Amino acid sequence: MTTAFTVNGQPRRLELDPATLLLEVLREHLRLTGTKCGCDDSSCGACTVLVNGQPALACTLLAAVCDGARITTIEGIAADGRLTALQRAFGRMGGAQCGFCTPGMVMAAKALLDDNPDPSDGEIQAALSGNICRCTGYVQILASVRAALAEAAGAAAAGAAQPDAAAAGGRRGFGPAPPRQATKPPAAHG
Ligand code: FES
Ligand code: FES
Repeated sequence: MTTAFTVNGQPRRLELDPATLLLEVLREHLRLTGTKCGCDDSSCGACTVLVNGQPALACTLLAAVCDGARITTIEGIAADGRLTALQRAFGRMGGAQCGFCTPGMVMAAKALLDDNPDPSDGEIQAALSGNICRCTGYVQILASVRAALAEAAGAAAAGAAQPDAAAAGGRRGFGPAPPRQATKPPAAHG
């Protein structure tokens, strides 16, 4: 069947088996390997992309139901070759350790900040609660998001945005994963 959508602003039209998953399309058909597969069953968040601006798990989302959608991957958020404040902060603040979870973390954080430019730590943790970091770098990940916020706001030192370690440390994740998997793409905004 023919499936058409945009990926990072580029129109794509593909002949796909109806059972083809979006992650397979991104990684194997389009060679956009920034989106990772950490579990293949909606439990880790490594495959998070944006579908019409909303986070979605590409590992269990049928490509066919994305027909007509606007898909954004980690490869598509830098502008003119310059990393976004979020991407820079993950590197600067140690939010990326082995880096395997990082694309999904960045995309989930981007979805939050696009919707809420001044989130609380609790709101950040809730937004990232479906993303597992096997390096357990949750303190640094939270610090990365806060540092990106500080940069975006023109605040002084990113280091001043360091969170209370007790708020996020010593845990498997930021909290229980919300039921985030889309069975159909979220509606387009505007
Ligand atoms: S690869 Fe783990 S949620 Fe998709
Ligand atoms: S940085 Fe290694 S899994 Fe998160």
